[in-house]
Amino acid sequence: MKNISITQLLSLNQKTAIVTGGAVGIGYGIAYRLAEAGANVVISDINADAAQAAAAQLNAKGWKAVAVTADVSSPEGVEAMFNAAKKSFGTIDILVNNAGIYPNVPISQMKPEDFDRVIATNLRGVFLCTRAATEVMINQGHGGKIINITSIDAIHPSGVGLAHYDATKHGVWGFTKNAALEFAPHNIWINAIAPGAIATPGLENGSNDEIVKAISSRIPMKRIGDPDEIGRAALFLASDLSSYMTGEQLVVDGGFLLT
Ligand code: NAI
Repeated sequence: MKNISITQLLSLNQKTAIVTGGAVGIGYGIAYRLAEAGANVVISDINADAAQAAAAQLNAKGWKAVAVTADVSSPEGVEAMFNAAKKSFGTIDILVNNAGIYPNVPISQMKPEDFDRVIATNLRGVFLCTRAATEVMINQGHGGKIINITSIDAIHPSGVGLAHYDATKHGVWGFTKNAALEFAPHNIWINAIAPGAIATPGLENGSNDEIVKAISSRIPMKRIGDPDEIGRAALFLASDLSSYMTGEQLVVDGGFLLT
């Protein structure tokens, strides 16, 4: 057994992490824990003001963060994101593909553009950011970590109206496994986290109290999760605590899938 202390295992000192959609919600919960563990964090988001505010909050704690405005579905946006990250911190060691949208539309009312928008953000965005990150990581020559935020909907549908979303999340899970296979020879470990219901602006904007109560009552832990509970799982996957894991999906759902 290697004699590595817990502090060393958890430390992300000298590492740079990009978190897409990192301005609020689950992305911010992840950015917070990675920054606390010592990583330089790039908060990348389509919402410039929210990204700036999030980076300022992390900097106010004495941690290192910058904000970058980018749309993950755009190849030019992703290229600009990676250039800005390299310019700020020099290396890229961790990528968290978190940006995602989940508009509720039943298939019977879904327009092709509704379908395409969800695919572009949730699936094409993961491909574009993974391609860019792996290119940098291979050139750097010391490996890296990629964490894809899927959903329990990558395993089981949570409700009608999310068929396009569920297609993307099943897709990201398949993409995760294939990418893990392709990039293992370069010491790039790629895993997914499948959150259950988490209290974020995205979930709260699309739900009223009744919906939240109905969801909570179905969860064995009887509560919706906090973004920090995904941040903790992401810290595990970003750090050496998970040194022998790749191509895996961690379900963090308060037991939701048991019901
Ligand atoms: P949210 O809506 O609260 O925050 C998402 C962030 O992503 C926002 O800051 C938004 O500006 C940004 N974003 C949206 N489109 C973007 C784009 N094209 N490019 C760059 N940034 C973009 O969402 P939430 O709830 O924090 O979800 C984050 C991820 O977690 C998503 O992938 C979602 O599917 C997943 N998830 C969320 C669950 C929940 O209960 N909140 C449950 C399971 C998965």
